[in-house]
Amino acid sequence: MKQLLCKEDYLQEIARSRDRRMSWWREARFGMFIHYGPYSQVGRNEWAMVLENMPVEEYEKLADTFSPEPGAPREWAKLAKRAGMKYMVLTTRHHEGFSLWDSKVNPYNSVNYGPRRDIVREFVAACREFDLKIGFYSSLMDWHHPDGWRCAFESEARLRFNRYIEALNTELLTNYGPIDILWYDVARPMEFWEGWNAVEMNQHLRALQPNLIINNRSLIPEDFSTPEEHLSAAENDWEACMTFNGLSWGYVDSAQARNYSYNAQRILKMLNTCCKSGGNLLLNIGPNPDGSVPAEAVEPLSTVGDWLQENGRAVYGRMVKDVKVGGNGGCDATYDGKNVYLWYWLWPSSGEMSVGGYMAAPKSVRFLKDGAPIDFVHDGRRIILKNLPRQPPDKIAGVTVIAMTFDRDPNYVFANRYPQLHGGKAYGE
Ligand code: GLC
Repeated sequence: MKQLLCKEDYLQEIARSRDRRMSWWREARFGMFIHYGPYSQVGRNEWAMVLENMPVEEYEKLADTFSPEPGAPREWAKLAKRAGMKYMVLTTRHHEGFSLWDSKVNPYNSVNYGPRRDIVREFVAACREFDLKIGFYSSLMDWHHPDGWRCAFESEARLRFNRYIEALNTELLTNYGPIDILWYDVARPMEFWEGWNAVEMNQHLRALQPNLIINNRSLIPEDFSTPEEHLSAAENDWEACMTFNGLSWGYVDSAQARNYSYNAQRILKMLNTCCKSGGNLLLNIGPNPDGSVPAEAVEPLSTVGDWLQENGRAVYGRMVKDVKVGGNGGCDATYDGKNVYLWYWLWPSSGEMSVGGYMAAPKSVRFLKDGAPIDFVHDGRRIILKNLPRQPPDKIAGVTVIAMTFDRDPNYVFANRYPQLHGGKAYGE
């Protein structure tokens, strides 16, 4: 076994291999988060056990009645693929402490109870079938294990609990072939990485999966940040995780949740916000109690997938992180270093519009979906697009992307804030 490194050396070592390990992730942009477990039957948030103060023995009954339909994970993966997502992250064990796999260290699992099947194995097979990268969410907090709380104040319990958490993740990272992401969550009740033995634990786990990507929730920065329910860029690699409805990660009644749920346009808007600041979007669905996909997610995700078929080049791949290019009031821009993609949320009915701030002329301007050229003139500090259709050309989601290709720096200067200063001329004229 490799000698263990101290925290500083460990962080340096993983930084050195990061570009290699993260290259697919940085281009993937869009993934599906799945929150599924016995809590899905309650339908009142995956925190129900705590929020409703249910005694462990009462809550455990949910393990017996937990009955995912055979093939449910395949339906998730099929929808993720259809939506243009590139990876999935499953809650293999949420805070309730129930393992969705054939665990030898946690008897409270889906093979001993309820379905009597290894759901993680089904999930992994489904991801592989649809060529999706595989992520395992793993809670640190545990409301079922007796040491899950004692670890905060009893050193023996802490050591036992450290070993337990590592053993769970060792199973996950040993028994299912290559795994791409380990997604920790909620480091409570111990509030420091030392309490979780995170530096040592993560080194042990990485030794099992040399390409593993780990998120920042074991209280050391690791590979990427995880803004939750907001789309704020971080300095390092980042992935925003978002519920589908702003209400719950776990299943809630579809008919009621529908009104709070994202439509295709809102999802594309989120994706744009992530892409233009170099982040990924991990969008959650909380499957129904039987594991089927929640009805309200199907149409929006399918529409997004259709749209990405035509407009994926504005999303996937490396985008310039701090976009120094802009659009106008109807759109937001992403930029891959050569092409500026203008995502039109609001399409002008006037047949003409102008995009300000570009001091260099583009080589070409066209619709991304079919390459049809767009007439334009460059007049020194703006690009005037002409003879545009009066209706939004995108028929899938009403979000039209215009691609402007530059063979040099677009030389973008954010608007001329005081047009009168320049007498209508460009800077330097
Ligand atoms: C939270 C919640 C949890 C959810 C997670 C997803 O911290 O505790 O229920 O799984 O966020 O990011």
